[in-house]
Amino acid sequence: MDGNGRWARLRGLPRIAGHREGVNRVRDIVRAAGELGIKCLTLYAFSCENWKRPKEEVDELMKLLERFLRTQAKEIRKQGLRLRTIGDIAALPEKVRSLLEKTIAESAGNEKGTLVLALNYGSRQEVIAAVRAYALAVREGREDLDALDWDRFSRHLYTGDLPDPDLIIRTSGELRVSNFLLLQGAYAEYCFVQKSWPDFGPADLREAIEAYNARERRFGMTGEQICNGTGQNTRLIS
Ligand code: FPP
Repeated sequence: MDGNGRWARLRGLPRIAGHREGVNRVRDIVRAAGELGIKCLTLYAFSCENWKRPKEEVDELMKLLERFLRTQAKEIRKQGLRLRTIGDIAALPEKVRSLLEKTIAESAGNEKGTLVLALNYGSRQEVIAAVRAYALAVREGREDLDALDWDRFSRHLYTGDLPDPDLIIRTSGELRVSNFLLLQGAYAEYCFVQKSWPDFGPADLREAIEAYNARERRFGMTGEQICNGTGQNTRLIS
């Protein structure tokens, strides 16, 4: 969800005004994704590296997150969504953490879709945490080093029980992935959108998904195999 700061600067507003408008788009996109039948939506809301921003901006982002969780809990229930996080939430302010834990617990049984907030998330940090967890499990006899493969290892990632992303969208025209789901996105389709996040609406989401649907995903196979039905080109919406 990139480009909040530039969106605000273009309008002569403080950066936080861009983040505030960004939260409005979060609400719109969560609703639109539900309507489109998207089963899992992950929003990169705060990276491990974002702590390096000015303290006032970090504090404001935490306040926005707190307010979002207070006001969105009802909507999450209404839409039948299960809330999850990826990232080390232990480092978040206590109020944010407890709201997250409460909403996650309350929504655990919902089955219509999963909303994942990436908070204090970084892919490299996630890999280190997973390696540590796997090594500990080997030491304690719960895992077997010789049996290590992607399937066993990936269960130790924050996304252990979540599907790999089919489509990753980055707004604001930047052509980089900034430490986001680097391993899980190995076969993801990427979509780089010029618009800043506060300008990214439901119609843009639909457009990105339609572009995705028109692509051929080969997963290392040949185009012929895909056409024969050996491979699967998961369509997100019909
Ligand atoms: C990147 O734009 C955006 C962020 C670091 C924060 C994203 C947060 C929100 C949209 C609001 C809080 C989230 C939720 C889920 C309530 P930038 O500030 O780097 O933009 P710039 O590159 O134009 O400066």
